Amino acid sequence: MKVPFLDLKSQYVSMRWDIAGAIQRVLDQTAFAGGPFVAQFEQEFAQFCGTKRCIGVGSGTDALWLALLGLGVGPGDEVITVPDTFIATAEAITWCGAKPVFVDVDPVTFNMDPSKIEAAITPATKALIPVHLFGQTADMDPILEIARRRKLFVIEDACQAHGAEYKGRKAGSMGAAGCFSFYPGKNLGAYGEAGAVVTNDEALDKKIRMLRDHGQEKKYHHGAVGWNGRKDGIQGAILSVKLKRLSEWNESRRANAKAYNEALAGAPGISLPVEAPYGKHVYHLYAVRVKDRDAVIDALAKKEISCGIHYPVPLHLQDAYKPLGYAKGAFPAAEKAASEFISLPMFAELTREQIAYVASELRGTVKG
Ligand SMILES: Cc1ncc(COP(=O)(O)O)c(C=O)c1O
Repeated sequence: MKVPFLDLKSQYVSMRWDIAGAIQRVLDQTAFAGGPFVAQFEQEFAQFCGTKRCIGVGSGTDALWLALLGLGVGPGDEVITVPDTFIATAEAITWCGAKPVFVDVDPVTFNMDPSKIEAAITPATKALIPVHLFGQTADMDPILEIARRRKLFVIEDACQAHGAEYKGRKAGSMGAAGCFSFYPGKNLGAYGEAGAVVTNDEALDKKIRMLRDHGQEKKYHHGAVGWNGRKDGIQGAILSVKLKRLSEWNESRRANAKAYNEALAGAPGISLPVEAPYGKHVYHLYAVRVKDRDAVIDALAKKEISCGIHYPVPLHLQDAYKPLGYAKGAFPAAEKAASEFISLPMFAELTREQIAYVASELRGTVKG
């Protein structure tokens, strides 16, 4: 049986005419860059996240970068984040002119370990960026408490966590800003590139709106040096259609994760993802851990099962971040995870037969 890692087509086919209608409406109004369809999605997504404001931008990377700039992070500042994330989290910090400072992750959830933060704070620290990895939020209360006490901003990297919850609060709604990617494979994915910042801070909302549009409030009057971080009208319209089904898709992902958990329970040599009691995981990725990961992936590929690795090299060991001077061994939990993680096929439309097949082949492959 062939099991893709991700199947965007089956979802598209289930809503083909709604998508076509959304695109047609944008064409009819020629509202291609920004405009009413982006504004409508901004309103709907703010409501979904339980925030006052949402600013649509070009990508999740833009969202992180513009949030940092909007909060005044710049040269000479340090921003604390984690090494087991997609590089965009750190790139956004670097391209503000600030320095990324890494702290290790919790060895159970693989999210920022709050107990490691204080030791990394210096007089230059301006902000913390916890990443809600794989669709599960970081343990936000202690992170928010440290930030309050040490007068730091918290920017949530919620690029993998659309609809995830922490003690009843939605991912993205707890810090000064929450940043989302709508890259096509995300739980809420556009049909191209798109992102958003959500916030309750109206001044920050205004600042990011200016920065995403060349620093202008009024056409050709530039109050600040900004950038083109606008979002496409077509993506706004498509995302409005898809947002209506996000909760249903997240529930399917949770049911799929439960089915994997049951099928893999007690399997020797396979560590399963743990859902922390504080929240609701939305399983953007379902990552198990095994020794000899690469051989396991090759064996599964021979059985037509496609898997992913998120992420094979933690950021502090990437060539791009060599200049930061971290050595191997600096962040043991993140390094162990990077060497053991396998992301199994995960998407809302995955069938029970596919899950059973993946689980049985994985059990057969991993020697405890
Ligand atoms: C954790 C994380 N941060 C940031 C990003 C960047 O988002 P984008 O690809 O939309 O720029 C992604 C998406 O790939 C991500 O997974």
